Amino acid sequence: MDINHSIMLMGCHLLVVALLKPRGQVIGHVRTKKGLDSESIHISINGCNNITMQNLILTAPSDSPNTDGIHTGNSNIVNVLHSKIGTGDDCISIGPGTNNMSMDHIVCGHGHGISIGSIGGTPREEGVENIEVKNSVFRNTDNGVRIKAWARPSNATVKNVNERILMLYILQSSGVKISNVKISSVSGTSRNLQALVLDCSPTNTCQNIKLQNINLVYSDKMKKTQRATSLFKHAYVN
Ligand SMILES: *[C@@H]1O[C@H](CO)[C@@H](O)[C@H](O)[C@H]1NC(C)=O
Ligand SMILES: *[C@@H]1O[C@H](CO)[C@@H](O)[C@H](O)[C@H]1NC(C)=O
Ligand SMILES: *[C@@H]1O[C@H](CO)[C@@H](O)[C@H](O)[C@H]1NC(C)=O
Repeated sequence: MDINHSIMLMGCHLLVVALLKPRGQVIGHVRTKKGLDSESIHISINGCNNITMQNLILTAPSDSPNTDGIHTGNSNIVNVLHSKIGTGDDCISIGPGTNNMSMDHIVCGHGHGISIGSIGGTPREEGVENIEVKNSVFRNTDNGVRIKAWARPSNATVKNVNERILMLYILQSSGVKISNVKISSVSGTSRNLQALVLDCSPTNTCQNIKLQNINLVYSDKMKKTQRATSLFKHAYVN
């Protein structure tokens, strides 16, 4: 089955979305031939409460822009389980007002990875809380998990992010509070030498960052490996 529009789920409650992939077929493919079909998010979730998505297979060409696999906002309790997502943009992007989201057994790639944000784009918008990524694999992604926060004043918060990832970026956190981020049992191979980047602002530092059991290896184009490096700026790791 091919679909050429995206699925929008708004204001749903206690919903389970499950698509199984028949042998050799791709389900949930947004066609993105340049200029012909719409280039958009595959599944967008807004205002939902307790939604579970499982066994999804979402694919789009790696050069198709804005084809996020799943985008969430203003929702509480969102589970994405046992899914394979490879698109031209984020596998999963987690927007303002998403709380209690769990991603388990995700195979992500190609694409950008899993993103939290952008957050803080408008003042007084909702934050993002209690996000967990576990048992997931990133293949040929630009990043593992990254947090994108705008460098402008906002009261948005990002906390309790618990993830097992290959790379973490916290960018431009000026004006946005980021605290209680937990990264544990992370191992894998990074395509960047600098695999762990916590780049926070001097005026709004990243607080209470917990890193445990991290083992990242950098593999260059010749497949030569070495221990990956990290960068911490205004990030308080305990
Ligand atoms: C969410 O929905 C599931 C059923 O799909 C139910 O078992 C679970 O208790 C619900 N969680 C909450 C917090 O309501
Ligand atoms: C979800 O998140 C909210 C706010 O972060 C929290 O108060 C609540 O207890 C969490 N759990 C459930 C099951 O809603
Ligand atoms: C953030 O919150 C504080 C106190 O609640 C308020 O004074 C300030 O104007 C808020 N900032 C923005 C950008 O909304």
